[in-house]
Amino acid sequence: MFSVHEMKSVEEDFSRNLGSKHRFIAASKCKKLRRPPVWLMRQAGRCLPEYRLLKKRYSFLDLVRIPELAAAITIQPLHRFDFDAAIIFSDILVLAEAMGYMYRFAEGSGILMDKRLENLEQIKSLDVTLVNERLAYVSESIQLVNKYLKGEKALIGFAGSPWTLANFMLEGGSSSTFTRAWWLYQNEPLIYQRLIKKLVQATVSFLKLQIYSGVDVIQIFDSLAELIPADKYMDVSGKWINFILRQIPQTTSIVYVKGTRYLLSSLSSLESNVLGIDASIQLRDVAEKLRKDVAVQGNLDPRLLLSSPMAVEIATRRLIYSMQDRPGYIFNLGHGVPANAKIDCIDALVRTVMQFNDGDPDYS
Ligand code: CP3
Repeated sequence: MFSVHEMKSVEEDFSRNLGSKHRFIAASKCKKLRRPPVWLMRQAGRCLPEYRLLKKRYSFLDLVRIPELAAAITIQPLHRFDFDAAIIFSDILVLAEAMGYMYRFAEGSGILMDKRLENLEQIKSLDVTLVNERLAYVSESIQLVNKYLKGEKALIGFAGSPWTLANFMLEGGSSSTFTRAWWLYQNEPLIYQRLIKKLVQATVSFLKLQIYSGVDVIQIFDSLAELIPADKYMDVSGKWINFILRQIPQTTSIVYVKGTRYLLSSLSSLESNVLGIDASIQLRDVAEKLRKDVAVQGNLDPRLLLSSPMAVEIATRRLIYSMQDRPGYIFNLGHGVPANAKIDCIDALVRTVMQFNDGDPDYS
């Protein structure tokens, strides 16, 4: 049976016939909902056959840069699954490109850049003034997607954290170790700061561009956070993320931190509305340690999408159930959809979240 308080929230939920976008925003404001909104990091792209078809005809960069294609790929997963949000098809590295560091995607080798940041001169000459002009295609993609979404689904824009972006730019692409940014922070802290301040400036411009173009939510990916020792996290990365958040217009914000288990003590210092949590820890335990006005997002193990629909369904129910009395929850994976994820497993995930809406007798 429901308590009076719970009944009220359920009634509100249904009587407002909460659409996807409102559900998403309500969850990020820690409103109590019958079911959490759901989307998946990397929902657009590689695991979908319709994306792979496009990849046969166009390079990854073309797909990102041609607004009609980027918009089509953003929408592809919404044709198949009943997600509450779309994430704009782009990459965190478009910002490096806009500052003169050209990149490409090579199957099997990840990201390759034409050059890497080597010295102070190069850092000084990073040009952050042309970012918005060079990324006008992202603005166009957002506008095209919004025409299709008609305000029904939340649209998510994103950027990498300055620390994560600095790692790629200092290595010249993907790396198995990513040692150079940490080296710079430890041995040349003033140069590190100089670089990070430029990246902060560029990221603020880029996020503003996305917000003014019509995204409802922004997510900052700190995907390489786990390379930082816990006691240094705020100084190396977190404080710069906060700096960005304070400079952008009022928008729902999510910070995804990979390495939650190690960095737990720092999470409450981040100033976003929502914290994205990886699969290394029980989500409920994290939520209990945070302020009640901070929402959480996550954290189903992405590897489950390689198993079976039944296993996904069980794990999904368990996760939602564990969060049921913690207002402020957005369902997601702990990291991106793996390239070899099974479509029927994603389908089982989304259906299971949706069924919570119908008051599944097992859990209500
Ligand atoms: O989430 C989405 O569906 C939107 C699109 C999106 C992409 N990249 C497209 C992409 C998003 C949100 C990103 C973010 C991104 N890009 C991150 C942070 C998130 C994370 O996964 O940690 C990082 C670190 C990058 C940099 C990047 N882009 C790498 C290291 C690679 C190669 C390895 C990989 O993950 O595939 C990319 C290429 C990339 N970006 C692909 C996609 C769909 C793969 C291209 C392909 O296989 O066709």
